[in-house]
Amino acid sequence: MSHHATYIVTGGAGFIGANLVAELLHRQPVAHVVVIDNFRSGSVENIMAACARRSVGAFAGTILPCSTAALDWDMVLERYEPSVVFHLGAITDTTLNDEAEMFRENLGGFERLLALVGESRRHGCPVRLVYASSAGTYGAPPQAATREPFPESAAGQPRNVYGMSKWLMEAAHRRAAERDEALPVIGLRYFNVFGPGEARKGAMASMIYKLARRLLDGQPPRLFADGSQARDQVAVADVVECTLAAGGLAGGLARPPKPGVYNVGSGRAVSFNQIVDCLREALGIPPDRLPTEYFEMPASVRAYYQDYTRADIAAAALGLGWSPRVAPLEAVAQYALWIRSQGRPVGERPV
Ligand SMILES: NC(=O)c1ccc[n+]([C@@H]2O[C@H](COP(=O)([O-])OP(=O)(O)OC[C@H]3O[C@@H](n4cnc5c(N)ncnc54)[C@H](O)[C@@H]3O)[C@@H](O)[C@H]2O)c1
Repeated sequence: MSHHATYIVTGGAGFIGANLVAELLHRQPVAHVVVIDNFRSGSVENIMAACARRSVGAFAGTILPCSTAALDWDMVLERYEPSVVFHLGAITDTTLNDEAEMFRENLGGFERLLALVGESRRHGCPVRLVYASSAGTYGAPPQAATREPFPESAAGQPRNVYGMSKWLMEAAHRRAAERDEALPVIGLRYFNVFGPGEARKGAMASMIYKLARRLLDGQPPRLFADGSQARDQVAVADVVECTLAAGGLAGGLARPPKPGVYNVGSGRAVSFNQIVDCLREALGIPPDRLPTEYFEMPASVRAYYQDYTRADIAAAALGLGWSPRVAPLEAVAQYALWIRSQGRPVGERPV
């Protein structure tokens, strides 16, 4: 790993991005980290808090307060000469139905970035690109009905505009990779990510955070009936590790990470009932105190809801040398205790 390397993290003021920034600085204290963020859902407080959690001192990199859709990528790559661009900046509100806005913000500039990454090798300053896709690209594949892991090939039926924007990013990536097989670009389909630093996501925070918050606030947890819906929940530390591995900065491979699109999950599905049970046990709140309330899923939600997700993580192990380190319920219990130890975070948005 070279010293004084520059890394760009778009969406670096967000939940996962800020954790990534701090981990980069932990591993390479002299690295120059350039955060590009329009602060739509992120905050510099996320970066400061993540750096404090990782004990890397105050963030002293560069912040470009700008939408990636409006960015002059030619100028940015020429000026900063990053070795890796981690592109996580996106509208993350999965309920937003404004198609023009979602596609403009989540896709704008991406094709130009792909082209520049392709050209960069020919210009002698090779750049790798790692971008965030989502389990939302799957919708409800046949594997969901039989409760089996989703292989990467099963995606393509997103159920909302957000999932479609991620699917179209992947489509642009595929087109570019058809022209250049060795294009050093990796798309990561994050499943449901949870962990420290998500309090400012408000309604878009993980269900784990929201359920823990309710229990800690003395309110009964609320679940869609009958609570058996299950998701692949993955701890943010594992997601950051995978993202670094995709950037060639971690992982157990002797060779560079293999370009492509990968699932990033724990490989296990846990139901919302299991999550509540786990939180109750960790926080010492038995089921007869604050009994769980179940309610019918509204039809508007039913239309796009994913009842079951589970990542097949075999490809990530082979191509990136990455596997999750922590089992989801173990991480949920630790996280519940951490949330309690922190009190109410500054800048938390209502969930
Ligand atoms: N958290 C999850 O469970 C999850 C699951 C699947 C995929 N993802 C993806 O991971 C990435 C990070 O998500 P997160 O959970 O940290 O959410 P987040 O909302 O906390 O972070 C997104 C960040 O991107 C910024 N942003 C939004 N639009 C932008 C734009 N056009 N240009 C520059 N910055 C922009 C926001 O201000 C924010 O700081 C996103 O691409 C998201 O779609 C997250």
